Amino acid sequence: MNMKEMVGKQAATYIESGMTVGLGTGSTAYYFVEEIGRRVKEEGLDIIGVTTSKRTKEQAEKLGIPLKSVDEVDFIDVTVDGADEIAPDFSGIKGGGGALLFEKIVAEQSKRIIWIVDESKMVDYLGRFPLPVEVIPYGSEQLFKKFEAKGYRPKFRVLENGERYLTDSQNYIIDLDVFPIKDPVTFGAELKALTGVVEQGLFTNMTETVLIGTPDGVKVQTLG
Ligand code: 5RP
Repeated sequence: MNMKEMVGKQAATYIESGMTVGLGTGSTAYYFVEEIGRRVKEEGLDIIGVTTSKRTKEQAEKLGIPLKSVDEVDFIDVTVDGADEIAPDFSGIKGGGGALLFEKIVAEQSKRIIWIVDESKMVDYLGRFPLPVEVIPYGSEQLFKKFEAKGYRPKFRVLENGERYLTDSQNYIIDLDVFPIKDPVTFGAELKALTGVVEQGLFTNMTETVLIGTPDGVKVQTLG
């Protein structure tokens, strides 16, 4: 079993019948969703899932996990999601898979958030992983120039065929190369304040539990 599968399966042990569960996006969250699907089918686990992307919705539907949209629930008990980088204070970068906007909306409705990663994602400072910023297409070239002028070395995210990547909300992603990000709260607020920016990939003060896949097994790390 690879590290992503190990943490994904272990995260599913935090889920109990009666819960509303946020289902994350990405290659690690994939295994969590698969395990939840297995438990729904084989163990009668009775949950409502709230998905964070079109991709995860399709996966969950195939597995027969009952779903509601984020607007149909009062709150989410637990969300389990991946991350691209996690700093020692548990601030993180998300959005490598392009789902940062829905992921953040779901996270903000969640009483508890558990991140699942392999050990390569644990870093001293954020920013070696490109920081995704979701922007509306109109005016995005102007935002791009602003990021360039600030020295953030922006790149529009593109598909293999060279076309611009479109998020589930039909927006673009501009990835920034800024290292080290020493104050993610302030930097995130600065980015979010720019007109045309829909969301940015710094997730701060959200989680207190990280499950880390290592060659020796899964380590549970908590804040404090
Ligand atoms: C998607 C995300 C993912 O959770 C993040 O990119 C980690 O993905 P993976 O588990 O595939 O490394 O934020 O938008």
